[in-house]
Amino acid sequence: MNGRTAWVRAMRRSVAFLALGITTMASAQTVVKIDPGKSGSRIERDIFGQFAEHLGTGIYGGIWVGRDSKIPNVRGIRSDVVAALHAIHVPNVRWPGGCFADEYHWRNGIGPAAKRTVTVNSNWGGVPEPSTFGTEEYMDFLQQIGSEAFISVNIGSGSPEEAADWLEYMTTTQPTSLEKQRAANGHPAPYKVHLLGLGNENWGCGGAMSPEHYVEQMKLFSHFVRNTNPAQKGGEQMKRIAVGWDSNSKDYTDAVMKAWAEKTGDWDIDAVSLHNYVLDGWPPHLPATGFGEADYAKAIKEAYGMDDKIVHQTAIMDRYDPQKKVALSVDEWGIWLAPTAGSNPGFLQQQNSLRDAILAAVTLNIFMRHADRVRMANIAQMVNVLQAMVLTDGPKMVLTPTYHIYKMYVPFQDATFVPISYDSGTYRYGDKSMPRLDAVAARDSSGQLWLSVTNVDPDKPADLVLDVSGKAIRSADGQLLTADRVDAVNSFAAPDNVKPRPFSAQRQGDRLRLTMPPKSVAVLALRP
Ligand code: AHR
Repeated sequence: MNGRTAWVRAMRRSVAFLALGITTMASAQTVVKIDPGKSGSRIERDIFGQFAEHLGTGIYGGIWVGRDSKIPNVRGIRSDVVAALHAIHVPNVRWPGGCFADEYHWRNGIGPAAKRTVTVNSNWGGVPEPSTFGTEEYMDFLQQIGSEAFISVNIGSGSPEEAADWLEYMTTTQPTSLEKQRAANGHPAPYKVHLLGLGNENWGCGGAMSPEHYVEQMKLFSHFVRNTNPAQKGGEQMKRIAVGWDSNSKDYTDAVMKAWAEKTGDWDIDAVSLHNYVLDGWPPHLPATGFGEADYAKAIKEAYGMDDKIVHQTAIMDRYDPQKKVALSVDEWGIWLAPTAGSNPGFLQQQNSLRDAILAAVTLNIFMRHADRVRMANIAQMVNVLQAMVLTDGPKMVLTPTYHIYKMYVPFQDATFVPISYDSGTYRYGDKSMPRLDAVAARDSSGQLWLSVTNVDPDKPADLVLDVSGKAIRSADGQLLTADRVDAVNSFAAPDNVKPRPFSAQRQGDRLRLTMPPKSVAVLALRP
């Protein structure tokens, strides 16, 4: 999908690097030239966001086990999952969906547990939705993992009034009936809502709306749904995200941005969404385990295609917003695989392999290169669903290879992009060809320089030499994630099959040499 354009762009990039005087040395060593004296955009930590939908065991079982569970928990929220997520500094969690969001009525999920309304989760398996995990539980979960709220309001089957009430319930400090209700439910202090999704895929599961109809609805919600938390006036203001990217056309983004550019009256947005899954056609059929190089190459090639999608959406947005005031929010992305054998297909359960970790690294690198426009993103999804961070089964929990990438990438949160150039080379398999190397560099707020390098080639190592202009770098130390096979996974029986290990560059004269094993991702601190 649009792979050709990505490839052409990658080749152009290599050529541009060569024109800048960057060479691949005769010994097949690739020079990675980093210029810490120059700065790109700030890499907003929100691009490392997560997504937790009421879907399968993503919430029930995966996060919420109930206060009486034998699984260790704090107020019903399982402690092993909290500890794991806390360690990766999740900036925000998109909730309650997805498609579920446009059928969610928040009042079902507040108040005494025994009185919550039970409904049917018609999008995901047709199973009962007990509403046990509601607003209070979500906010408690965020507080436990140290994250911020990204609430998607129901535009499809809800009303502006219902959504406005929800925001009043969560954020007001005025002595209103809803404020009193929140206090009676155990939280007198207002909550903060960092991000507000104005619907979800309203071109599809969110109501099959035409772009024009969606824009009119979105404006109503943007106007009436107010965050009145006094602590969020000014700098910490809630950001509103409109729906964009209709997978079949460019119409949604265009309609939303046109309305924004011609805006009259009191409404606004801060971002437009883009959803994109690696899935090689519908229904999703790429295997999660036991696959070979052909499926590996197909998936990674498609992951590189994210760049095209961003460029395409950015071009539309640039027409109306050349100053890039409105962000692109890639608030659903990841690899969507064939479901685990024997699982409910509506639960979207899948294993997670080294391939998926490499795909995550490549995708996060693309976001960072587009940090001027891509300022928010959410991998789908956090626990037990699609490309998850952790998998659980009753009391058992395992960290996935993708989790390790998120942990290794923590230093890039809120760092500043640093220009980097290298000849990426080519990895080919069958009719698929793509950049073999993928690297980004950034400087964190303490001035520390970080480098991430991915060697996509599953067979050949890559020999790199680091050339940091204007700075004597004496060491490059960090972590490396690889395994013996691209389809290597962590299971409950073998939870550490794929895990990072310490990794360093070796000194070569006045430079540092890095030998990247095949199919590997490294994140290194470059120190003087
Ligand atoms: O993440 C699974 C589903 O994919 C979401 O609910 C929906 O928004 C998307 O189509």
